[in-house]
Amino acid sequence: MQIETVGVVGCGLMGHGIAQIAAQGGYKVIVSEADQGALDKGLSRIEKSLGKLAGKLVEKGKKTAEEAEADAAAAFGRITGTLDRADLADCDLICEAIVENLDVKNQLFKELGESVKESCIFATNTSSFPVAEMAAASGRPDRFVGLHFFNPVQLMRLVEVVHTDETDEEVFAAARAFGEACGKTAVACKDTPGFVVNRLLVPYMVQALEMLDRGDATKEDIDAAMQLGCGYPMGPITLTDYVGLDTTLFILQGWAERYPDEPAFGVPAILERYVAEGKLGRKVGEGFYDWNADKKA
Ligand code: CAA
Ligand code: NAD
Repeated sequence: MQIETVGVVGCGLMGHGIAQIAAQGGYKVIVSEADQGALDKGLSRIEKSLGKLAGKLVEKGKKTAEEAEADAAAAFGRITGTLDRADLADCDLICEAIVENLDVKNQLFKELGESVKESCIFATNTSSFPVAEMAAASGRPDRFVGLHFFNPVQLMRLVEVVHTDETDEEVFAAARAFGEACGKTAVACKDTPGFVVNRLLVPYMVQALEMLDRGDATKEDIDAAMQLGCGYPMGPITLTDYVGLDTTLFILQGWAERYPDEPAFGVPAILERYVAEGKLGRKVGEGFYDWNADKKA
């Protein structure tokens, strides 16, 4: 199963990173967005990130400035942006990274299933929804996997490759090989809520938010405690700002509705309040922290 052209739907926090690492892995990438503003923002993030990574390679003496700049330009040159989903028709693999809403994702995959060449593999980057439901909506459940990347995609080394009961073994192997060609270590996961990482990570974030809401400790102290006491690279409140408060809320609302008897999946009231106020985290400049004032955005 030869993958040459990769489609990425959504060029937000995750989509721009997925498009970037695929291009760095040598694939031709077509990234589709809902509107021009979001597409421009995503592409400019990619350009900035490629520049940063190139600078680091030079700093470490791994490449000359000319080589690093040429490689970054070549990777960027492999990416095309579009607002017309019909441009994805000839892709060999399409990875979706749009809003964490199952109805919207199902609708997208239904449309892709009707318009994209039959051999194309479909992948979702969902954080929490059953992959099998999107696979069914696409009309090609055997050619469907989860490819769950982590934020920031350019730096996090893992991809979870999720198979449903219907995923074809060759399709799974091709998707796994794609993740590895993008520079990630792949782990195989069953189609369970949150797969491996989020099943453990999100309930931990919930506990931290409940702690903050009760006033047990300040956000700075909760973060410092987990960084210094457990060696985590960032504390859970900062991490929620990184992930996006809206995305975290969508994950939990989906789980609370589907698994009402699972106490680990409660929706913290503080999260609902902040999202209602438009404080969605680092991506908008303000979440639990003010990224323009308290932290370097
Ligand atoms: N592209 C290129 N370079 C980048 C970058 C990007 N997108 N983001 C950061 N960098 C660079 C920085 O400029 C910096 O470069 P210098 O060393 O030259 O200054 C370098 O990478 C390291 O960045 P930081 O200074 O910010 O350093 P850090 O050591 O704090 O690392 C981090 C940042 C990798 C994000 C680290 O804090 C970390 O691992 N945090 C935890 C992240 C995490 O848990 N992610 C998972 C979230 S959950 C999820 O994704 C699943 C879900 O479904 C919700
Ligand atoms: P985001 O809000 O940053 O980006 C979503 C993007 O999708 C936006 O730019 C939006 O304009 C675009 N979009 C929405 N509907 C679209 C459509 N129909 N066609 C094309 N583009 C469309 O969200 P995100 O954080 O990148 O999350 C995307 C997905 O990745 C979600 O399923 C999320 O659960 C998952 N995810 C998120 C993280 C994280 O840390 N944020 C980590 C892993 C997985």
